[in-house]
Amino acid sequence: MKLCVALDLATKEECLNIAKDLKGLDLWLKVGLRAYLRDGFKFIEDLKKISDFKIFLDLKIHDIPNTMADACEEIAKLGVDMINIHASAGNIAMQEVMNRLDKKFSKRPLVLAVSALTSFDEENFFNIYKQTINEAVINFAKMSYENGLDGMVCSVFESKNIKENTHQNFLTLTPGIRPFGEGKDDQKRVADLIIAQENKSDFIVIGRPIYKNQNPRLICEKILENING
Ligand code: C5P
Repeated sequence: MKLCVALDLATKEECLNIAKDLKGLDLWLKVGLRAYLRDGFKFIEDLKKISDFKIFLDLKIHDIPNTMADACEEIAKLGVDMINIHASAGNIAMQEVMNRLDKKFSKRPLVLAVSALTSFDEENFFNIYKQTINEAVINFAKMSYENGLDGMVCSVFESKNIKENTHQNFLTLTPGIRPFGEGKDDQKRVADLIIAQENKSDFIVIGRPIYKNQNPRLICEKILENING
């Protein structure tokens, strides 16, 4: 299991300071839409200069297939290690993205699919997709696996089921982690490290429990000890 730290702080400087504090640790950094729109490619470059962190650029690409493939090609040129697209863009979009990346890059980034956004409740989700969230997650996972994507962004509580319906090596990246039972903030369902491990999560995404901690490096070290030990 890998630790992925969400860089969701309000300014570039604060994000870079956290990254500097975490220098040398074996972890991934997640750069989201806000930071990328604000700070752009230079921010990715700055992070890479600090340490050889792996970078997950979380832009949740969703458009017509050709536009998605164009966008993913540009993102892959940034040299990031993992990207994501919306599964609901469909089979053709997934195929075009994967074909384009495989054709243009000898070492392409990992590509994950976003399934049901966790901000949906069942009723609002059903109004759009005519399925329960659970059914949709499994359908999206099977589609993503069959189209050659590397894994899914999902809840810890969906991770095992996704692997059982696809392949044990199909990756799951799970936000909503409170490593040692910290407060939930605005997350609805959270899991600690033990639950994440039991559910075979490959990447745990953690933001506030790390950057709001008085000693972000120490808590990361504790998490790494825990998941590696
Ligand atoms: O601070 P916290 O650990 O709750 O941050 C979780 C990170 O994971 C945030 O960047 C959030 O946007 C992201 N995320 C999430 N739930 C999802 C997808 C992404 O919390 N379903």
